[in-house]
Amino acid sequence: MKKKVVSVFLAMTMVAAMVAGCGGNNAASSNAAGTNGADTTGNAVTDDAAPADTEASDAADAAADAAGGDLADKKVGVCIYQFSDNFMTLFRGELENYLIEQGFSKDNITIVDGANDQATQTGQIDNFISQGVDVLIINPVNSSSAETITDKVVAADIPLVYINREPEESEEQRWADNGWDVTYVGCDARQSGTMQGELILDLGLETVDKNGDGKIQYIMVEGDPENIDAQYRTEFSVKALTDGGIEVECLSDQVGNWQQDQAQSIVANALGQYGDDVEVVFCNNDAMALGALQAIQAAGRTVGEDIYLVGVDALSEALEDVIAGTMTGTVFNDHFAQSHGAADAAIRFLNGEKNEYYIACDYVKVTSDNAQEVLDMVK
Ligand code: GAL
Repeated sequence: MKKKVVSVFLAMTMVAAMVAGCGGNNAASSNAAGTNGADTTGNAVTDDAAPADTEASDAADAAADAAGGDLADKKVGVCIYQFSDNFMTLFRGELENYLIEQGFSKDNITIVDGANDQATQTGQIDNFISQGVDVLIINPVNSSSAETITDKVVAADIPLVYINREPEESEEQRWADNGWDVTYVGCDARQSGTMQGELILDLGLETVDKNGDGKIQYIMVEGDPENIDAQYRTEFSVKALTDGGIEVECLSDQVGNWQQDQAQSIVANALGQYGDDVEVVFCNNDAMALGALQAIQAAGRTVGEDIYLVGVDALSEALEDVIAGTMTGTVFNDHFAQSHGAADAAIRFLNGEKNEYYIACDYVKVTSDNAQEVLDMVK
């Protein structure tokens, strides 16, 4: 049932892409993932995540059968960059459930918290290697550490599936050139940024331009700047507006590290400084949008009337806000497709099969029109 809903939404989604941004975060414009967009899909999760996910599940079932149903004996090590991250909490819960559904034993799945510290995570990877796990699924603390991580995991002859934080293109190319059992499963963050911009664009300049100066004044609250998701969402949300012919002015662009409390104080300060000139608040994720909403309400502003607010992830609380009109919209970051895709890729490796080096899935734009359906799906 969940899958059907996803496919209906995906049929309505549109991908654009390009450049821009304010606050000087253009580091991503020539980056890696640039060649890995929605059209360079892997064999587990494709542009239409729903049917592909079904196919992937079938493929995983077949792989499990072919492996003689012995997945229960396989040891899986999972490294998460930080347990306190809301979205990664949904992701790891779904990943564990799905691995168990596919036949792994709960006792053989070990999920560890990197506590947002690469040295801690590297130690955890070393431990997994010395314990002799059969496969590793890694959400790196720093994407830039991927080369070092890959080298040690490949040297130990353990297949590796990266999730959520995409390594550089040159790193992915290395896996391909060497024929290593390493892959990345995730979404193209440019698509989520574009959708955020479209959520505002679709309202029309007349609606959003409250001070009537012919342009849109906005605040940007960014996630961890080392993370390509933060870089692309910052860049492409604004680009969607400028591509749509709208003039923009960035009043403030600050790093909230994906955290609700940090975003709350950033937005409270920005509203204090720029007052009614703030027409739009872009947050790179929903946790920060929830913090922004607290600041907006404390400042006596009303979303949908005198200010507009968008996030990414489709956390339940944010979806409830979209339904209530206290958030303009969000973008569904499909943790089902991503976690299932990662598990299916791991199973294929365990079964001696190959994976594409990049396995993609799609985001879904969420407005008050479809927020209830998405909420029914994620709950
Ligand atoms: C993003 C997500 C954020 C945060 C981040 C961690 O995809 O939108 O909320 O979880 O991943 O890397």
